[in-house]
Amino acid sequence: MEFIDTHAHLYVEQFDEDRNEMLERARAQGIKRFYLPNIDRSTIDTMLKLESEHASDCFAMMGVHPCSIKADYKDELKTAESWLEKRKFVAVGEIGIDLYWDKTFVEEQKEAFRIQINWAKDLGIPFVIHSRDSLDLTIQIVKEEQDGNLSGIFHCFGGSVEQAKKISDLGFYIGIGGVLTFKKAGLDLVLKEVDLANMVLETDAPYLAPTPFRGKRNESAYIRQIADKLASAKETSLEKVAEVTTQNAINIFKN
Ligand code: NI
Repeated sequence: MEFIDTHAHLYVEQFDEDRNEMLERARAQGIKRFYLPNIDRSTIDTMLKLESEHASDCFAMMGVHPCSIKADYKDELKTAESWLEKRKFVAVGEIGIDLYWDKTFVEEQKEAFRIQINWAKDLGIPFVIHSRDSLDLTIQIVKEEQDGNLSGIFHCFGGSVEQAKKISDLGFYIGIGGVLTFKKAGLDLVLKEVDLANMVLETDAPYLAPTPFRGKRNESAYIRQIADKLASAKETSLEKVAEVTTQNAINIFKN
């Protein structure tokens, strides 16, 4: 069985002690590819280093995370844009709106989201969306920007059946991670009503570890726990989950 971790911050310092072993554990579980969303200027060097050391299965995105959209956001955007002009990236990401942590720069977050969507539009590459406490708003913005050529992932999906439907109507996918395994979340009941054809798997490592590792460091090998839970939510086999979500990820990133 083959899996793809479509969203993992494997370059952060939480993996400095055992990064190669962690990657080996994931490969042993059948994880064939790791897609690395950028955060901001401070993470680009380590992300690109990881990618160059594991060029066969680690792929970098470029963009500015909404939590890094602050007073100096124009400089952040300039740096990310210059990298996108310099070399190829598999996607723009992660970008979006976060209304959970801090609403001070919500207008700047919206502006930066649209600017970065338009980079993806110009480059013809997908983008990966962070939508914490802002799912309706991000769906609305993507809808306004959708010209028929946009594609990507609403990462860390935790919404309703209706929201999932709106996302698939836009031609986008939902990223399913550790939240699915949390007892209280109820996401399993939502996903029961959503077609596997609209889903990809992700860990968001080192954050949001699935049960039974909740609260600990997350890593890409735990895609298996998420896939297991998705298989039971969908009343299907692990093999089917692996096959469909892997093909979906390949369809999105096209690399
Ligand atoms: Ni992330």
